[in-house]
Amino acid sequence: MRSARTTRPVSDRGRLADAQWWRQAVVYQIYPRSFADSDGNGLGDLAGVISRIPYLASLGIDAVWLSPFYPSALADGGYDVDDYRDVDPRLGTLADFDEMTARLHARRIKVIVDIVPNHTSNRHAWFRAALAAPKGSPARNRYIFRDGLGPDGAQPPSDWASMFGGPVWTRVPDGQWYLHLFTTEQPDLNWDNREVRDDFLKTLRFWSDRGVDGFRVDVAHGLAKNLAEPLASLPVGGDITDGSLPPGTHPLWDRDEVHDIYAEWRQVFNEYDPPRAGVAEAWVHPSRRPKYASPDGLGQAFNFDLLEANWNAGEFLRVITDNLADAQRQGSSMTWVLSNHDVVRHATRYGLPPEEHRGHPNARNWLLSGGTSLRLERGLGLRRARAAVLLVLALPGSAYLYQGEELGLHEVPDIPFDLVQDPAYARSQGAEKGRDGCRVPLPWTSGGPSFGFGAGPAHLPQPAWFGAVSVQAQDRDPASTLTLYRQALGWRHKLQTAESMDWMPGTNGQVLHFARPGGWRCVTNFGPGPVPLPNGTVILTSVPFEGSQLPADTTAWLLST
Ligand code: NOJ
Repeated sequence: MRSARTTRPVSDRGRLADAQWWRQAVVYQIYPRSFADSDGNGLGDLAGVISRIPYLASLGIDAVWLSPFYPSALADGGYDVDDYRDVDPRLGTLADFDEMTARLHARRIKVIVDIVPNHTSNRHAWFRAALAAPKGSPARNRYIFRDGLGPDGAQPPSDWASMFGGPVWTRVPDGQWYLHLFTTEQPDLNWDNREVRDDFLKTLRFWSDRGVDGFRVDVAHGLAKNLAEPLASLPVGGDITDGSLPPGTHPLWDRDEVHDIYAEWRQVFNEYDPPRAGVAEAWVHPSRRPKYASPDGLGQAFNFDLLEANWNAGEFLRVITDNLADAQRQGSSMTWVLSNHDVVRHATRYGLPPEEHRGHPNARNWLLSGGTSLRLERGLGLRRARAAVLLVLALPGSAYLYQGEELGLHEVPDIPFDLVQDPAYARSQGAEKGRDGCRVPLPWTSGGPSFGFGAGPAHLPQPAWFGAVSVQAQDRDPASTLTLYRQALGWRHKLQTAESMDWMPGTNGQVLHFARPGGWRCVTNFGPGPVPLPNGTVILTSVPFEGSQLPADTTAWLLST
């Protein structure tokens, strides 16, 4: 089942089309430890994914992206990797991975894996060797070790705060300090070290040789650093897109040199036929995104602007317009993301009062209160989420769906504090509840010990209301959100053509109306009241309605007549 490596250029039209498969793909994100548990140990696993391939095929997706399934102590949900070229034994084996890939491919579903190059875990063989080795050794030079400040070096080398709170420096027994932009258990690698670069090229080939079709690159904007001393005070966990530092000059983020790394990765991707795809997780200023998405680099970059947007026609219009302009500049396709494993689920965001500031302060405070500080309008949030996904799926470019959104899942806000797993909670000293609420294992059945997730309880507690929104409850219901996703993806496959769109008359501060080539049109009414439905044959609506008025918080797909 392995695909052979080749350096032959991609030349004929058919193969070229295949090489571009990712440009308008619908990619379904699986958070493996919370997807399906085949052995009843409470953690989802690869055999669980295999058992649900018929479900994935029934959705009509083009690819899955698996969040990390590598050996890990789960200090950060698996983004603390002990070994990049193996499977966590609790999740399965490399043979399971090969079987999963082969079976997904047999259903024409591509496989994207998550690569975490900014940091290893503190259990990685390299970090253990670094701790055992003396100061100044080659083993320490794979990471970022520094002496501390003050007469006995007891002060950290700088006052920088980590992304989840707490300092970025941790002291080791011989008195040196190591840098970690995230948790203490995630030491940052030294990307100035050729050995580090070569090892990741080996990892990319390892998975590509096993038939992986692409890579999602974690913290893609963090690898290149300038740690020339003295290390000045600066915002680390803050918003680096706010323009307070000239582009490319932050010592830790989004430095121009990072693209040399991805140019090398691209050469590896292009050794394969079709070339392996890449998508960057890069939280950078929009003007800096095209470089990550360039054909000489990773090829595609997430646009996270919809994660920050309220349910509002003006905000969606701005995001779509900017994303279109980006795509033209970068020669890549657009990406659309409403939810992922790091943010409050969008059905919930849209059912809470609008956010006035970036970063979802309302939703985060609501989580901290266990879901009581604000009234969540569950029905309204779901209605808007259904309208939003039809809008997004009608746009040119690729759409990244997050497991459970096809069930219309809301965030789970009331996980008891003593069961919280996300390190953001402890590191922020309780100022953040963290991201567990969108990572609660999926409900497959209406009852059972973990609603069909596995034979025993799930690793995060599931709420009682999960049963009513399970796959089983929605599977054959023509009005369910699951049915809507299946219908939408079915239509999209039939209607998707060139990567272009035109705004149509009727687009205003309440309504977005656009056309795709071939007569496919999409109109969304963001409310508050009904608006006249444009002419055309209605083929799909986010909620049922009668008559010639498009109700508030509703999307309709039309065919021009
Ligand atoms: C981004 C990932 O999406 C997030 O879950 C993780 O905590 C950080 N990178 C650190 O790896």
